[in-house]
Amino acid sequence: MVTVEPRKSGEDLALHVRGVQHGYHIDGTYRPVIQEMDLRVEPGEFVALLGPSGCGKSTLLRLIAGLEKPSAGWIEVDGRSVTGPGPDRIVMFQDPTLYPWRTVRQNVALSQDISGKRDDHAVDEAIRLVGLGGFEKAWPHQLSGGMAQRTALARALVNHPRMLILDEPLGKLDALTRLTMQTELHRLWKERGFTAIMVTHDVDEALFLATRVLTLGGTNRSRILSDIRVEAPFHRHRDDPYLLGLRHEILSQLGYKDV
Ligand SMILES: Nc1ncnc2c1ncn2[C@@H]1O[C@H](COP(=O)(O)OP(=O)(O)O)[C@@H](O)[C@H]1O
Ligand SMILES: [Mg+2]
Repeated sequence: MVTVEPRKSGEDLALHVRGVQHGYHIDGTYRPVIQEMDLRVEPGEFVALLGPSGCGKSTLLRLIAGLEKPSAGWIEVDGRSVTGPGPDRIVMFQDPTLYPWRTVRQNVALSQDISGKRDDHAVDEAIRLVGLGGFEKAWPHQLSGGMAQRTALARALVNHPRMLILDEPLGKLDALTRLTMQTELHRLWKERGFTAIMVTHDVDEALFLATRVLTLGGTNRSRILSDIRVEAPFHRHRDDPYLLGLRHEILSQLGYKDV
């Protein structure tokens, strides 16, 4: 699989989005979605993206993942321009998309089986890491929503990607499972040290997990409206007055003034 061109920018950035514009042709007309966008992310940052539905959050993630090419501009990951998907950038969606005919262990080992490079030790370690030890032989239909998403996380992390691209990964979970999984996701990020780019519609989730929160929006086409560094140390408390202040600021930025 071709992933990147050997084109070093000489900068130590995990992600560099430079002058990216993107849109789609619908019925012969070009409809812009993302207007000129610049973004620099350092290795190991946890960036949360918030914005109204349809503003282009998933589109931006697909561009970073290399699943689509921008209409204009450049995207570099670790100093190399993105030309397609690659094992250094794993994407995780709302739906865990497990294969029903494979066990937890076989689902986690999927990419290794495809490439013919099975590493049993890495598979077992990833399963333990997400707290699924003992469930290796379970089938997807025997798992709760949270366990299925843990399996998807183990599958995402098994080959130690440098970047995790998360599109509302906890969006389908019930409220309490969601809180548990936020703590888990934070622990995995701390332990593995990957760079995370996560779309969420939950401001509290963003403030619990992220080192930086970006809001996207605008009329007709989106841009970055705000880029807020979350300075609170981990482990964070959701009722920390500093975080509540940021929550208010971010919601105002998104157009919600009276919440
Ligand atoms: N493959 C596609 N073809 C045409 N339009 C698309 C396609 N994917 C997304 N769009 C449009 O781009 C806009 C942004 O979509 P999306 O990135 O999914 O938004 P978000 O994730 O913020 O809800 C929407 O108006 C959507 O209809
Ligand atoms: Mg989306």
